[in-house]
Amino acid sequence: MKGVVFDILRDMVEDNYGLEGWQSILDKAGSDGIYVSTQTYDDAELMSLVAAASDITRIAVNELVFSFGEYMIPKFYQRFPNFFEDAPNFIKFLVSVDQIIHVEVRKLFPDAGLPTFDYCDENENALTMIYKSPRKLCQLAEGLISGSAKHYKQGYKIIHDPCIHAGSDHCVLKVELVK
Ligand code: HEM
Ligand SMILES: [Zn+2]
Repeated sequence: MKGVVFDILRDMVEDNYGLEGWQSILDKAGSDGIYVSTQTYDDAELMSLVAAASDITRIAVNELVFSFGEYMIPKFYQRFPNFFEDAPNFIKFLVSVDQIIHVEVRKLFPDAGLPTFDYCDENENALTMIYKSPRKLCQLAEGLISGSAKHYKQGYKIIHDPCIHAGSDHCVLKVELVK
């Protein structure tokens, strides 16, 4: 994971638990907390911070990862407003993630660990996304989808089945708009 992801995690923890909260998570995870945004760190390091945060807050890892995804979207909007402005609605934005956004991210950070999304059954009210990644961060994807829906003020429901965490080699995220 790029350091920028750690920066956003620190911001989220600081917003909710203050600097002491972040420090106690670093202590528990045995990290010095020095992250440079363009540098790449072991994925395991991010997960050990999340595990430490889960121990301290007693919030389940899955829930924390989801909330982290939600929290990332306004931060991404601050840094990269064009990605949002170029997409006319929530569904088009989700389609642009694999086709445009992550392609541009790859140019900025050639060693970024990005998932792949395949898309099917797109129409005005629905979109199916097929998630594949060795990092198995489909809960992060769900949080990012939720944060994006909030950005576009769009209600939706999601069905997540099958899932990588239940033995499949991919996750299917079926998104349906709700008025
Ligand atoms: C402007 C919007 C977005 C930007 C700038 C962005 C950028 C990034 C960056 C920088 C990473 C981390 C790469 C690394 O640390 O090596 C990442 C990972 C990821 N992105 Fe995006 N992203 C955006 C929107 C989304 C959305 C809406 C989704 C879900 C539909 C998504 C799904 C993911 C997932 C699941 C990962 C974790 C890595 C993995 O699963 O392998 N992204 N993205
Ligand atoms: Zn899944």
